[in-house]
Amino acid sequence: MSDGLEDVVAANTVLSEVDGQRGVLIIRGHSLDELAGRTRFEEVARLLFDGFFDDLPADLAPGLAAARREVFAEVSALDTGLLDRNPVEGMRALTARLADGDDLATALRLLAAPAVFTAAVVRAQAGQAPVAPDISLGHAADILRMLSGKAPSAQEAAALDTYLVTVSDHGLNASTFAARVIASTRAGLTSAVLGGISALKGPLHGGAPGPVIEMLDEIGTPGQARAWIEAALARGDRLMGFGHRVYRVRDPRADALKAAVRRLDDGAGARPGRIAFAEAVEAAALAILKEHKPNRPLDTNVEFYTALLLEALDFPPSAFTCVFAMGRVAGWIAHAREQVAAGRLIRPQSVYIGPAPLAA
Ligand code: ACO
Repeated sequence: MSDGLEDVVAANTVLSEVDGQRGVLIIRGHSLDELAGRTRFEEVARLLFDGFFDDLPADLAPGLAAARREVFAEVSALDTGLLDRNPVEGMRALTARLADGDDLATALRLLAAPAVFTAAVVRAQAGQAPVAPDISLGHAADILRMLSGKAPSAQEAAALDTYLVTVSDHGLNASTFAARVIASTRAGLTSAVLGGISALKGPLHGGAPGPVIEMLDEIGTPGQARAWIEAALARGDRLMGFGHRVYRVRDPRADALKAAVRRLDDGAGARPGRIAFAEAVEAAALAILKEHKPNRPLDTNVEFYTALLLEALDFPPSAFTCVFAMGRVAGWIAHAREQVAAGRLIRPQSVYIGPAPLAA
């Protein structure tokens, strides 16, 4: 028995491989280094979907753009009672309005949903009207436009594309496993994606980048980093943006996003000096974690540079998990289809440790 299932192999997959010892992520035969910064989200989604849908077009972009427009109709149903809550809850509620199904049209609507609904929820929370999709734009550029109301620079769209590609799939992480469990019951893609969103919401999975910003803001200046981090660890807190269940060396996604954020730092978005400050905090954290846990390799994870990248693109920290879902939804859909093709209901065993019934 293993509480966190770390040693349990629960699926064969052609989708991605996380090599935690070497710090390598492979997505359908390509290393993340090959894809990040060079491929658009639509292309990686197609790569992931390949073989799982009969009628897959050579280019997913037009179908995805049309799906953005289609799901936008649901935005009018946004319940204002949801606006005081975590944006994931609003985005999830609108996604739940989509019909379940297993075909490509359902998959494209689900691929579009977190993007369109998050932009609408964030704007509604700021008292702004939603911005309808522009189907002439690529997915990443349109997300930024639906969020801010103005066309992004090519550099900003490329940074978001890098992010979406980087988080598109990652082995049998908690949200992907949740999606596969649901898909194995034949509930349909919408149900599987809703399960993925719900698992991603937790702070130990997709909910960490918001707290990374809080940490940086509380630290304030590089000189305060050591004292702040030591006090946090002394309280028994975990440093957000560090550590990973599988990676025992550096998370390769952190490097891909660091490169993207540095490219942005030269241009629009980033606050002056923000990246240099974050790098100083990162260096202090790594040195202190090494002293704190000498036998446990703890390195920077994807969430640390996610926080900086999404902050530079003007996403509010409360919506960072939603942006993660915009990318990971491609993986959830492909895994759900792969699980259905595998044909087996996921149904593990438990060991009963409660009291025995009283003798009659
Ligand atoms: N800061 C301080 N100590 C840590 C950290 C951290 N970020 N991460 C692990 N540790 C410590 C634990 O306290 C534990 O110490 P103990 O043995 O004395 O109890 C030891 O290292 C091992 O930790 P585990 O909980 O066994 O490691 P696990 O593999 O379960 O944790 C996790 C992985 C949950 C990501 C953890 O590193 C963490 O909480 N990190 C901070 C949150 C975070 O950044 N989450 C995003 C992860 S990336 C993603 O989901 C996309």
